[in-house]
Amino acid sequence: MQRENFGNRFGVLVAMAGSAIGLGNLWRFPYMVGEYGGAAFIFVYIIFFFLLCLPILIAEVIVGRRSQANAFGAFGKLAPGSRWKWVGALMVLTPVIVVSYYSVIGGWSVDYFIRACMMDFSAAGGPETGFGDIFSSFISSVWPPVICHTVYLALTASVVLAGVKGGIERFGKVMMPVLFVIVIVIAVRSATLPGAKDGLVWLFKPDFSKIDASVCAAALGQGFFSLSAGFGIMLTYASYISRKENIAASSAYTAVSDLIFAIIASCAIMPAVFSFGLDPQEGPGLVFETLPFIFSKMPLGGFISILFFLALIVAALTSSISLYEVGVAYLMEEKKMSRRKAVAVIFVITWVLGILCSLSFGPLSGVRVFGNTLFNFFDKLSANWLMPLGALLIVLFVGWRMDKADVRNEFTNGGALRTNRRIFGAVYFLIRFIAPAAIIVIFISILVS
Ligand code: ALA
Repeated sequence: MQRENFGNRFGVLVAMAGSAIGLGNLWRFPYMVGEYGGAAFIFVYIIFFFLLCLPILIAEVIVGRRSQANAFGAFGKLAPGSRWKWVGALMVLTPVIVVSYYSVIGGWSVDYFIRACMMDFSAAGGPETGFGDIFSSFISSVWPPVICHTVYLALTASVVLAGVKGGIERFGKVMMPVLFVIVIVIAVRSATLPGAKDGLVWLFKPDFSKIDASVCAAALGQGFFSLSAGFGIMLTYASYISRKENIAASSAYTAVSDLIFAIIASCAIMPAVFSFGLDPQEGPGLVFETLPFIFSKMPLGGFISILFFLALIVAALTSSISLYEVGVAYLMEEKKMSRRKAVAVIFVITWVLGILCSLSFGPLSGVRVFGNTLFNFFDKLSANWLMPLGALLIVLFVGWRMDKADVRNEFTNGGALRTNRRIFGAVYFLIRFIAPAAIIVIFISILVS
């Protein structure tokens, strides 16, 4: 079967940046910043992001482009007959789990977008607790969130069905610029509210005394999640990158756009939170409880709320298509299915798992796995265990199992890229020693806590 490739450099960039930029930036990053001390968290995050997460991303991209295979097949090709193929299995399993609960949150975004279009937030009008009630009664109901999850998953599947170039790349090319424009518009509106300056100071003036082990662990976990590093996605996308592209540059552009977007998203949210005297430590409810309250109060809030929830859907979609594609590529190449059939199989699996996750906020809230609801179990299993484990194994594979000459060859396009030749030693050192050591320390800190 002829493998598809991304069409050009811009296509590679929007696909990779689209995968990285998602709910992790618009929903998770701002509330993590809120919970873990504002600028201090951002400071640690930036250091880890470039020193650890970016090298892990590069390692994954090296495996993908070198093998030109799906996440499972890649390890079979580069280390034939070895047990590394189980790492490949992990890399296929993790995104399937993640897309199941990710599309539940994507579904909430669809519902909130519809509410915003119907001016539902201005109608609700009450204090912020009222918005908390609206949110909890929505997510604990049976049909509305399940229907929204189904709609969202169907949207994801339809883009993946159209293929790598005609679906994923084309969608990213149109949607990523739109996404940046929307978030910049919202950030400008938010930063010009009265009292917004306090929010900006809180975001950019670090209090270093707030940095401790939990901040470091949270920053690293967020980095993996946001950069889509360590769970087979970038490996799969990299397998569609032509041999002529500069993968170090594509990885660096992806990381920089992901970081800039996360910071703009925080600038879109936090100044408004401060302007209305609300608590930045609201946690996961920040986007669905605090923001609607703010939108109901601020000038142009109705319009901004439509833009915000549209941005949330678009950002989530460009990520969930990448999560979805991992399983599809596996089924197409390893099980010889057509794209249509592979998309259908992944749809059924993730739809059922997603419904269970959605119901775990309502009728199934009593079902506990290791003390967690199903949604929390999937979230914790993937973010705290599978992603760091995948990241650790991928850097060990590239740093210790692959031939150094092959790694250098892939990184420098056979020696043709001068800058890459110069920085190879430093990047290889980070992949071989620093990244594995740091991930092991984080693992131990999670175990201890
Ligand atoms: N990287 C994706 C996100 O940030 C998974 O949402």
